[in-house]
Amino acid sequence: MIKSGNHLFKLNFVQLFVCFLICFCTFSDLSIGCSDIERKALLNFKQSLTDPFGKLSSWDGEDCCQWHGVTCNNETGQVAKLDLQNSAREDSALRGKIDSSLLNLKNLSYLDLSLNNFEGNPIPQFIGSFKTLSYLNLSLAHFGGTIPPHLGNLSNLRYLDLHSYSDLGYKLSSNDLQWLKGLSSLEYLDLTGADLSSVANWLQNVNMIPSLLELYLSTCKLHYFPLSLPFVNLTSLVALDLSNNMFNSPIPRWIFNITGLKSIFLSSSNLIGTIPSVFADMHSLQILDLSHQFLEGPIPGSLGNLSKLQSLTLAFNNLNGNLIEFVETLSGNNSLEVLDLTENMFSGHLPDALGNLTNLRSLILMKNGFWGSIPKSIRFLSFLQHLSLFGNPMNGTIPDSIGQLSDLIVMDFGQTAWEGTISETHFSNLTKLENLEISSTSPKKSLTFNIGSRWIPPFNLKSIIIAHNKVGPLFPEWLQTQSNLNRLFLNDVEISGKLPDWFWNWCSQRIDDLDLANNNISGTLPSSLHFHYETNVYLISNLLEGPIPLWSNVRRLYLWSNFFSGVIPENISDTMPMLRDLDLSRNFLSGGIPNSIVKLKELRSLVLSSNNLSGKLPQDWTQLQHLEVLDLANNSLSGEIPSSMGALHSLRLLILSSNSFKGEIPLSLQNCRGLWSFDLGKNKISGQIPTWIGDSTPLLMVLRLRSNLFTGNIPTQLCHLTSLHVMDLADNSLSGVIPKCLGNLTGMISEVLSEDAKRYEGNVMIVAKGRELEYSSTLPLVKIIDLSENNLSGNVPQEITKLQRLGTLNLSNNHLTGNIPSNIGNLNLLETLDLSRNQLSGSIPQSLAFISSLNHLNLSYNNLVGKVPTGNQLQTLNDPSIYKGNPGLCGGPLNKCEEDTVSSYDDDDGDHENGEDNLMEMKWFYVGISMGFVVGFLGVFVTLLLKKPCRLCI
Ligand SMILES: *[C@@H]1O[C@H](CO)[C@@H](O)[C@H](O)[C@H]1NC(C)=O
Ligand SMILES: *[C@@H]1O[C@H](CO)[C@@H](O)[C@H](O)[C@H]1NC(C)=O
Ligand SMILES: *[C@@H]1O[C@H](CO)[C@@H](O)[C@H](O)[C@H]1NC(C)=O
Ligand SMILES: *[C@@H]1O[C@H](CO)[C@@H](O)[C@H](O)[C@H]1NC(C)=O
Ligand SMILES: *[C@@H]1O[C@H](CO)[C@@H](O)[C@H](O)[C@H]1NC(C)=O
Repeated sequence: MIKSGNHLFKLNFVQLFVCFLICFCTFSDLSIGCSDIERKALLNFKQSLTDPFGKLSSWDGEDCCQWHGVTCNNETGQVAKLDLQNSAREDSALRGKIDSSLLNLKNLSYLDLSLNNFEGNPIPQFIGSFKTLSYLNLSLAHFGGTIPPHLGNLSNLRYLDLHSYSDLGYKLSSNDLQWLKGLSSLEYLDLTGADLSSVANWLQNVNMIPSLLELYLSTCKLHYFPLSLPFVNLTSLVALDLSNNMFNSPIPRWIFNITGLKSIFLSSSNLIGTIPSVFADMHSLQILDLSHQFLEGPIPGSLGNLSKLQSLTLAFNNLNGNLIEFVETLSGNNSLEVLDLTENMFSGHLPDALGNLTNLRSLILMKNGFWGSIPKSIRFLSFLQHLSLFGNPMNGTIPDSIGQLSDLIVMDFGQTAWEGTISETHFSNLTKLENLEISSTSPKKSLTFNIGSRWIPPFNLKSIIIAHNKVGPLFPEWLQTQSNLNRLFLNDVEISGKLPDWFWNWCSQRIDDLDLANNNISGTLPSSLHFHYETNVYLISNLLEGPIPLWSNVRRLYLWSNFFSGVIPENISDTMPMLRDLDLSRNFLSGGIPNSIVKLKELRSLVLSSNNLSGKLPQDWTQLQHLEVLDLANNSLSGEIPSSMGALHSLRLLILSSNSFKGEIPLSLQNCRGLWSFDLGKNKISGQIPTWIGDSTPLLMVLRLRSNLFTGNIPTQLCHLTSLHVMDLADNSLSGVIPKCLGNLTGMISEVLSEDAKRYEGNVMIVAKGRELEYSSTLPLVKIIDLSENNLSGNVPQEITKLQRLGTLNLSNNHLTGNIPSNIGNLNLLETLDLSRNQLSGSIPQSLAFISSLNHLNLSYNNLVGKVPTGNQLQTLNDPSIYKGNPGLCGGPLNKCEEDTVSSYDDDDGDHENGEDNLMEMKWFYVGISMGFVVGFLGVFVTLLLKKPCRLCI
């Protein structure tokens, strides 16, 4: 028994030992985890990469299963998962090349290397040899080249994400997607960003994968969208993203056979035609995005049958009609949370049935033609967070039931035209409101805020914009309760009187964007104040007075059109060092421009025009490297233009007009190569017009040097200014001829595009239509050549008649001779033509009568002869003074020509003054001849004698 017991024990011991060994082995298997081969494979992989943030520093020691990003199968100990996705931080990316020893991870099923930087190396072919791989994510990893067809061997792959795998723009060739058919288990495919423009059969390739559930081919430069497909294999598809391609086609019918689709993203893919009503058969549809296309027509009412639809985005199309049928159909049973119809042409009333879309969270109807009132039923939209009617001509009332929308965060009623009143009830339950905008496009301010001064609002706003409505005369006291407000716009809301005492202190602690412009706010401003955030302050067009404020942390300060007085303090650069834009124009500031102003290094614009500033300019402008706009017009500044202004490399507008500057234009200004607008008008600047203006400032659009002391010729280099549309050199002492090459000024020929029309070119005084007017927003539309009041001689160049869009041509008061170009009528947009007080001869060209826009004509005091042409527009210009001083003219508003009526003298009304004038002119005419113009006018004179065209000529 004992023996056997021993035996038994021995046996048990052996068994135990074996068992221990087995256990040990199993245990060690678990603790060491990965095999030597796999460990080495990972280390080789690590070695081939650079790892700036040491993310693989844990890749050390025996058990690679413990390493960062490595997961092993807990039964076999083999590496199953390698997840090295980088964070969004570019600089923490692993860089380099993938080492092929990775293939030794024989059981890898999950590989994520996304967001790293493989530096343009191609996706390695060997990845196609991971037999067990089911998940592969190489998105945004800076690979280069094509996608290796070997990926087609991954028959177990269910998830493939190659979203923007390359940023090098490699164009895949036409059969580069054929490998897709090997992926027989694939459920998720994302090739967003791959250039598939040459892959005409992309759809056939994708159609080989019936297992596909989600397909993302956004931004693939696809332009072929087959309208038909013999057989749709993709019947399991639930998500389809073909957005941001270039199809130029209608929505193909085969999509509607994929009835299980839940999400369709087709935005920005140049789709045309209408929205097919067959969408209504896609009963699973939850998200439909067809924004940014060229779709037209209405929303088919039947779309209202899509009872699972959660989000419908049709923004930026040309859709029209009203919403009534769609909303009424939808309103029975619906899940709609988002309806975005921004920038279409929908119109009509908002349907009452909107109130039945009780799940709505966002209702965005911006920039359409909806009008009328908001239906009272809106109060049923109890989950509504975002309501935008911005840019609709809403001309009805806002029901106070809107105050029931207790989830509302954004109420955007900008650029509408509401009537009626807004009361406290309109906000009664809006406890979550953060953004409120109610601004009007109608000048009559038909919406009145009727809110008590002791009102305590339920909300705590971040932004409030009220413009062109009636809020005042009292400043809204309730704003004081708003502790989170950043943006406060109360522009043109009839607030008058002083701001309340609490205002500036409250404001400086929270506001970073303040606009109280166009009110009647009076009083003075606190002289010093520190804003907590970098702040923009717009107080333009009020009745504010006293010294200008020096507020620290202000980025933009616009105080124009007020009654500020006193000097601009010398310490402005110490107190407001971050100032970017300063506009103090149209006030009563006096004294000099402080030297410290040129130390405001961040300045983009400095506008001090229309004050009483005097003295010389600061000398050293070299620090203002960002300055784009300098407008000092209409002051009493004197001295020379500092040559250091040539260091203002960013300058676009330089406006120094109506001052007393003297000296010459400094040569250094030729370094301001970006100038658009150069206005030195009405100063005492002398010397020649620099030739560099034509070559060094190629973008120049406005050149105004009028009323100075310039001498010499008009440089032909000015003809290189192809964008020039205002050339005003009038009232100088320029001599020589008018360059023929002015006909090359294409800026006077080209059409003004709508984007040009929005450009700011400064406020510039222009003489046109007989008056001097200030142009600012419409300046880009003005096309003018004014060379009047100089000593120019020679002819009016024929070439000028090429400048087809010229609106004003003023060459008066020179010594021009010769004929008026016969085809002057080519200038068919001309409104003002002044050639008066020259020595032009010959007859008035008949073509002048064809300029239908002409409304200011002056040809007086020349030597023109013959008959004033008759014709449409000239008939309306019947003031005889415009022809005065041309004794050889007759007809039109003048006396009849002799050949027409023999006894015209008797028919005359006997206007003595007119007769006397004509006698005076005759004297002048002879004086002209005796003064040495005989040669020039002899021909004319002889003609006059011979033809005797009108009775008072001889
Ligand atoms: C292995 O891991 C899976 C998932 O983590 C777990 O469900 C399973 O029970 C584990 N098996 C063993 C033997 O620990
Ligand atoms: C549908 O998919 C199967 C499986 O890949 C393929 O054999 C067949 O050719 C496909 N049909 C079409 C019309 O592409
Ligand atoms: C689409 O479905 C209809 C019937 O529902 C069928 O007749 C037609 O052949 C299908 N078209 C394609 C391209 O699969
Ligand atoms: C929509 O709501 C109104 C009440 O606002 C109700 O009378 C109407 O029956 C509702 N329509 C549907 C289709 O539910
Ligand atoms: C509102 O505008 C619409 C469309 O322009 C117009 O038909 C309607 O008469 C206007 N209503 C009011 C009250 O002005």
